[in-house]
Amino acid sequence: MQLIEKLNWRYATKTMKTDRVPQSKIDNIIHAIRLTASSYGLQPYKLLVIENKELREALKGAAYNQSQVADASHLFVFAAYDNITEFHIDNYMALHAEVKGIDVAHMAPFKQMLAGSLLARTAEQNFNWASRQVYIALGTALIAAAAEEVDATPMEGFNPSKVDEVLNLKEQGLRSVLLLPIGYRDAANDKTAHAPKVRKKHADFVVEVK
Ligand SMILES: Cc1cc2nc3c(=O)[nH]c(=O)nc-3n(C[C@H](O)[C@H](O)[C@H](O)COP(=O)(O)O)c2cc1C
Repeated sequence: MQLIEKLNWRYATKTMKTDRVPQSKIDNIIHAIRLTASSYGLQPYKLLVIENKELREALKGAAYNQSQVADASHLFVFAAYDNITEFHIDNYMALHAEVKGIDVAHMAPFKQMLAGSLLARTAEQNFNWASRQVYIALGTALIAAAAEEVDATPMEGFNPSKVDEVLNLKEQGLRSVLLLPIGYRDAANDKTAHAPKVRKKHADFVVEVK
């Protein structure tokens, strides 16, 4: 299948089987998410990959009992940094220095630029900015899952405070932003499995400026 066919094939699966997705496919989806672009390259979020069934039953309760949370093969939770601090910026500079094989002192101008912009904001502003980076990762995850012919359901329909509590995210300086159950559609029992895609027509969507 070509990319467009795969994007037509994918849909926000409502009912999933409990079959396990092979680790190689899970690894490819995670790898694609790691390669996602982010502002400054800071990747201000973490990806939690949860298989534990008990934990997922608890999370399902926090997600208005959406069954995919527990039935899917894996549950991805995207959690953004609750703030950006000098600690995060220093870690990022150290990573740059390590990857490029240079002394971290050479990163000073970049550090100053990042600190000047990010440390001047409130924690809430930084969290909102980090959340926007998460949505870019979600897009990549959806395309990567489709490329692997694996189903995925993007979810905002959950109570973030409850999810944060179940996963102890506050203690880790994180806040949940999105859930993404990953698994296989139960096409026989999912009424939406064969529904046509509802998308704006090209002419209503694209503004061509020549
Ligand atoms: C950010 C975001 C949040 C969503 N939250 C939910 C959700 O909580 N539960 C759900 O069943 N679908 C959810 N959806 C799925 C959308 O309803 C779905 O993507 C949209 O109707 C288009 O249909 P399709 O993805 O099946 O083509 C969400 C989608 C996005 C992008």
